[in-house]
Amino acid sequence: MRAPLSSFGPFSGPICGPIFGPVSGLALAAALLIGPFSGLVSSAALAEEVDKTSEAYQVANIVAASQEDGVYYTEDGVPTYSIKEDGTVDWLTYSGFRRYHSECHVCHGPEGEGSSYAPALKKSAIDLDYYSFVDVVTNGRTKVNAAENSVMPAFGTNANVMCYLNDIYVYLKARGMDAVPRGRPAKKEGKPDAIREAENACLGG
Ligand code: HEC
Repeated sequence: MRAPLSSFGPFSGPICGPIFGPVSGLALAAALLIGPFSGLVSSAALAEEVDKTSEAYQVANIVAASQEDGVYYTEDGVPTYSIKEDGTVDWLTYSGFRRYHSECHVCHGPEGEGSSYAPALKKSAIDLDYYSFVDVVTNGRTKVNAAENSVMPAFGTNANVMCYLNDIYVYLKARGMDAVPRGRPAKKEGKPDAIREAENACLGG
């Protein structure tokens, strides 16, 4: 099953509802289950370290197996980046760089490097699977214990985030794999018409 474009996020039920619905529902249920224990065991301790060099991980999450309308997908249908030998990045990676730095960096630090307040998302994009990543951004997450009161806001109704969620995810994954250097990508693929149309529909709807 192919993951939908972020542009079709929660803003277009017919396309995304059946796909996102059950998945984020499950993830949310899992979050609720973990909830009561978060004071005892930090969620970081629960998250398993991912071997990002393993073939299984690469095939499922990294290696672009197909391209449609300028968006690259892995064999598992998860959006991913594509970077040419001369450093030209796909549109989503470039767009994600910009969107990340307008919506997320204040808490998560520049270029996904993390801050004293919020985790390094370039690592999260590798350690969390795509659906968990989307779930946290959509529904938010709060961790409260004696030492900290840490809140990730829910962005589910913020079109400036939800319409660019795949972009942000793909950019952070490229950062996490060291596929792009820090800074604004110098060379990028042109913006595909299909992405422009989906973006307009998402922002307008
Ligand atoms: C107001 C500050 C703030 C902003 C803005 C913010 N975050 Fe967060 N985010 C946090 C905090 C704090 C956490 C850790 C929450 C916890 O401890 O459960 C977090 C956690 C996350 C996680 C889970 C990371 C992990 O490894 O488990 C993801 C994914 C995430 N944020 C994505 C985003 C994205 C994408 C944006 C921009 C659209 C964003 N955040 C904007 C504060 C913020």
